[in-house]
Amino acid sequence: MKKVLFICGSPSGEKSTSFVHADFMAHFIKYTYEFISLYETSDPTKPILSAHAQEKEEVFLKIVNKMENADALVWVSGAQCYFVPVQMQYLFEKLLAQNYYFKGKIAATLLTTYGVLDDYIHEKIRDVSEQLGFGHIGDISISGSPFDFNSNESESQCRALAGKINRALASSYVPPRETDFIERKYLSPVIYGDRDFYSVKTAPEIKPEIHKTGKKTIILISGSSISNDPAALFIYNCINAYSRNNIKLIEIENCDIKPCVYCRECILSVTGECCLKDEYSKIEKQLFLADGIIYLGNCGAGIIDSRLRTFLGRTGKLLNQPSLRDKHGFVIATGGGPLGKSGAKHLEYFMGIHGINNIATLTDSIAEPDQFSHVLQWTIQNLDLAMEEKWQAPDRFPAIGEHLIVRDVSIEFGYVVRGNYNFYKNEKRYNYPCRLLTAILYPFFSNTRFRKTFEKLIINHFLKKKKKRLATISY
Ligand SMILES: Cc1cc2nc3c(=O)[nH]c(=O)nc-3n(C[C@H](O)[C@H](O)[C@H](O)COP(=O)(O)O)c2cc1C
Repeated sequence: MKKVLFICGSPSGEKSTSFVHADFMAHFIKYTYEFISLYETSDPTKPILSAHAQEKEEVFLKIVNKMENADALVWVSGAQCYFVPVQMQYLFEKLLAQNYYFKGKIAATLLTTYGVLDDYIHEKIRDVSEQLGFGHIGDISISGSPFDFNSNESESQCRALAGKINRALASSYVPPRETDFIERKYLSPVIYGDRDFYSVKTAPEIKPEIHKTGKKTIILISGSSISNDPAALFIYNCINAYSRNNIKLIEIENCDIKPCVYCRECILSVTGECCLKDEYSKIEKQLFLADGIIYLGNCGAGIIDSRLRTFLGRTGKLLNQPSLRDKHGFVIATGGGPLGKSGAKHLEYFMGIHGINNIATLTDSIAEPDQFSHVLQWTIQNLDLAMEEKWQAPDRFPAIGEHLIVRDVSIEFGYVVRGNYNFYKNEKRYNYPCRLLTAILYPFFSNTRFRKTFEKLIINHFLKKKKKRLATISY
């Protein structure tokens, strides 16, 4: 008997929207199926995999074994900051860094979202699946709201995807790869750029006492530690040497920052303060104090590595309330080869959504070492000028789109009303609120316990409805 494996990547456990829909979809699978979660059963927010891409821990090997024994696999997860949750990315990174390849099997994706860049996220998951050897049979995007648990649209999508998997397994059909094969070194988060490239000593010597005449502060946030990552070291040296201003380096690999667990405090509470207590809030404060911000990431799993994503995934409040509007910055993705551009684009989305005026989106993929240090020189000199002359730029599409989506969700459900109300009012974004709903929910959301109980009631109500619905369905 053929077998389908559902790999669940949401830290919200069995009440996550993605799990609820995957459970529904599984009822239409005609073969044996199994669910595995990437989190501990006793605590669905704790990942079972380590963040170290090269580590072969027992639990990882067990997952690989299940993947090898399955004929089809479904990636199940909510969208998180334009990709899957970081805890699921750990699995992708391990599989790619340790050279796994699954031939003759099919994969599919069930993603729950608010509709922000779904196509982009699906493309990335498909790329990873194909680079791992799977033929990707299809993907579905389902609304991430419990109000949609029973919608015709979500049920229809689940049935259709289950049907495709059934038919493919029955006829042993494996879809051909759509993407070009990419060398693993470009997909692995532990291979940092091209070593020959960065061993060329083109980074200029730093003489801070001579030219550090600027009064601005630029924060360089690097996913990896510069002592491990020659690309990051090279870039830090160039930026430090060429800028008139002070450069403050933050290496996320050396910081205590935990991955987002979807507590949603950043959206729902008045302060927007995350439930996780670690170094994130200290770094966020530094972002507010800085004049310039640079995001520097190494590419892994076809996207920015999980170290930098762990930090960016925690910026939920900034995604929702783009409060860094007076800042300027740029982004750099390294080590992605042909995927470098796409990794840099991923970082560019964050700049836009955070409200930062992004002056450049760079990658080391195409340039020669000499050229690349000139590109950095040119860009950092522009950044110095942009901060001094206060260059301004309007929002571009992804940022405008996301802000409109968030605003519409607030208006439709009054759900994020308390957290965002003042911000949206001051920014004149909240231009057609449902005043009655706002009036009712504003005081209601002031009490966290009250709010959490209310959320639980809503989810349990829709879960019960879903169970009843399943009992009446014919397969
Ligand atoms: C920090 C955070 C980041 C998110 N990022 C995205 C995103 O990039 N795109 C999107 O469409 N939805 C995004 N969402 C919405 C979630 O994808 C949505 O809530 C989803 O249903 C969660 O899935 P789950 O309930 O299975 O965990 C985000 C939510 C949070 C809390």
